[in-house]
Amino acid sequence: MKGYFISIEGTDGSGKSTQLEKMVSYLKERCPRVEVTREPGGTPVAEKIRELILDPENKAMTARTEMLLYAASRAQHVEEKIRPLLEEGAVVVTDRFIDSSIAYQAYGRGLGQIVGEVNRIAADGLEPDLTIFLDLSPEEGIARKRREERHEMDRLELETLAFHRKVYEGYDALCRQNPARVARIDAAQSVEEVFSQICRALDAVLSRR
Ligand code: TYD
Repeated sequence: MKGYFISIEGTDGSGKSTQLEKMVSYLKERCPRVEVTREPGGTPVAEKIRELILDPENKAMTARTEMLLYAASRAQHVEEKIRPLLEEGAVVVTDRFIDSSIAYQAYGRGLGQIVGEVNRIAADGLEPDLTIFLDLSPEEGIARKRREERHEMDRLELETLAFHRKVYEGYDALCRQNPARVARIDAAQSVEEVFSQICRALDAVLSRR
């Protein structure tokens, strides 16, 4: 495949949206074609699945249903959008990918290794070339979210601190298991400090292209 696939990950409140925007501008100055997308969602069908997953009304949704819906959204996203863009040579940046399912569903919900198996099928084996992980403790992440004015909490954000601690543990394990792919960045630093470390990780991969 000719393109390059980058994911950005982080626990709730880690400043992911701000850094994603800065990162995309940085890449656009350096690469001819940069496409941004997100999960769950990214295509019309996958966005419909997203609404279903995040709707706070869906309190009865079981962990396995949730896991399969994230995987279904991803299957559609990969086949309809990400793979074709990579084939065309684009740099594709996605706001979350399989690592989110490992952290939230395998660790957070306690579903374990089936999550990795299901998602290998869903993503047809596709993995990011580089993953930026914004590392912030769940306590600080939740406090930041609550300070944000007018922010309506979605179903996942309304989970308990114990859940978010398990999610964090999942990300920690992913970082240790994939040191070559995942750039772990301390998100408690200032926006500019975090961004300069992201740039360093991006420069390292851009120079190899
Ligand atoms: P979103 O509004 O995109 O939140 P954020 O800004 O934190 O990315 O909501 C996505 C939520 O879904 C978020 O709480 C993380 C969760 N999630 C999973 O649990 N599993 C997954 O596979 C993905 C992609 C997201």
